[in-house]
Amino acid sequence: MQRVPLIRRSLALATVVAAVILTSYGGALAADSVVRGYDHLINKAYLPPDFHQRTFDEVWRVWPEPMRGLAEQASPEERRRMAFERYGLTLRPDDDSGKPLQYVVDGDGNWTMNCFACHGGQVLGKAYPGRPNSDFDLETMTEEIRRTKIRQGATLTRMDLGQLVLPLGTTRGTSNAVMFGVGLMASRDARLNLVPPSVLPRMVHHDMEPPPWWHFRKRSHLYIDGFAEKGHRALMQFMLVPENGPKVFREGENDYRDVYQYLESICPPKYPFAIDRDLSQEGREVFQRQCAECHGTYGDRETYPELTVPIDEIGTDRVRYDALLPEHRRGYAGSWFADFGGRRVVIEPEGYVAPPLDGIWASAPYFHNGSVPTLWHVLHASQRPRVWIRQGDPDAYDTQRVGLSVRELAEIPAGTFDRVLRRQYFDTARRGKSAAGHAYPEQLTESEKEAVMEYLKTL
Ligand code: HEC
Ligand code: HEC
Repeated sequence: MQRVPLIRRSLALATVVAAVILTSYGGALAADSVVRGYDHLINKAYLPPDFHQRTFDEVWRVWPEPMRGLAEQASPEERRRMAFERYGLTLRPDDDSGKPLQYVVDGDGNWTMNCFACHGGQVLGKAYPGRPNSDFDLETMTEEIRRTKIRQGATLTRMDLGQLVLPLGTTRGTSNAVMFGVGLMASRDARLNLVPPSVLPRMVHHDMEPPPWWHFRKRSHLYIDGFAEKGHRALMQFMLVPENGPKVFREGENDYRDVYQYLESICPPKYPFAIDRDLSQEGREVFQRQCAECHGTYGDRETYPELTVPIDEIGTDRVRYDALLPEHRRGYAGSWFADFGGRRVVIEPEGYVAPPLDGIWASAPYFHNGSVPTLWHVLHASQRPRVWIRQGDPDAYDTQRVGLSVRELAEIPAGTFDRVLRRQYFDTARRGKSAAGHAYPEQLTESEKEAVMEYLKTL
């Protein structure tokens, strides 16, 4: 392929040797740890509870009509199914407990959010731990849980109140998670003691779609800008609520060593439909030529260059890039999470890291902000929709364009006042939601694009 200017081979981890070592992490040695890691995440609450079963069971009473009427006539099981669908929750795979993947539910009926709220979701009706939860609507769920608690006279907790000062996520399936972290770190010292914030942190609210966890084993540094070297402590930032003091972090470390092993072990699901082998073989050649330099190679000889592409060159939405300031990264670098400087932290990254494309068929929508609904749209930059909304059942999948089944619009229909419905429209005109950039596929002919799309299904 043409040399792309300015690319910095920042983190040249990816050699065949490294891939073999990384793969062996998931092997027999760590098997117990892997099992424990998953078990911790679904069964152990690392935060104080969010709400009680009683509140969840009654949440339908605050729904708008006609849903409320339908729920009223439904059986409790059916109502629960409706609530799961409304908020983007799924059952746990291979588990008949009836509990959601996304929350820990203890013996007393307390529900506590876990990592899978954002990092576990369904594709084609099957839930996969580690698949970004593109259905999760934290904002709506929090609003309706709070109203239900108020009706019940139950105590309001962290999320119910936090939402009043911090947007949680303005589009379904995405969240303002990076800013939660910035806000919560502002009142901690390096050892994670709670301190009054010296200055109020500059907050640039924006939503992101989480990356799939099956990338974890290939990456040496985390996040779209690759700023933080990975380690088990990095995974514990999620626990940064004021109720958790430094001791809770230290005591949780062993659990998160298991969680780390579990993350290393995750593999993507296989594309479940027929693949045209000849066409995908053609696509592989195009991919090697035009894409592999950034996205690596797959199959027997796995490589992953973990390349940072300068922000102006990649051209995808830059709000996330600008929102995390050097001072935020420096604060992180000197803290317990990064072993007080012992872990590599990139204070001024140049741009975004090209992610691995393993299991790419299963992780729509695409780009770090979740702005592009299908692989076809990734490959046809000029035809990306300005506004899109999911259509069909929640598990509907577009096998033609490979990704979410969506309706495309020029704008959100006038008169859409319902906030919950508005959140279902992805509006690329809004700040942080641009679907522009990544023009590399434009160098391909139409038939090369078709072949590459077939090849992407095999990853
Ligand atoms: C509220 C949603 C949310 C929750 C809950 C959440 N995450 Fe994330 N996570 C994100 C988002 C969004 C990103 C992308 C951030 C970025 O790239 O800047 C992310 C990124 C990550 C990454 C980096 C992956 C990569 O390839 O770069 C890891 C690892 C991760 N999260 C682990 C966890 C763990 C472990 C938990 C629970 C202890 C957790 N997350 C809870 C939203 C969430
Ligand atoms: C110069 C490096 C570079 C080249 C060449 C390149 N990409 Fe990318 N690609 C990136 C970066 C960086 C991102 C992340 C952009 C973002 O999320 O904002 C990305 C994202 C993607 C995504 C979305 C990934 C996800 O999980 O959301 C797909 C699919 C993709 N690229 C496919 C391709 C294909 C196919 C080609 C070849 C035709 C290609 N790329 C060429 C750098 C590159």
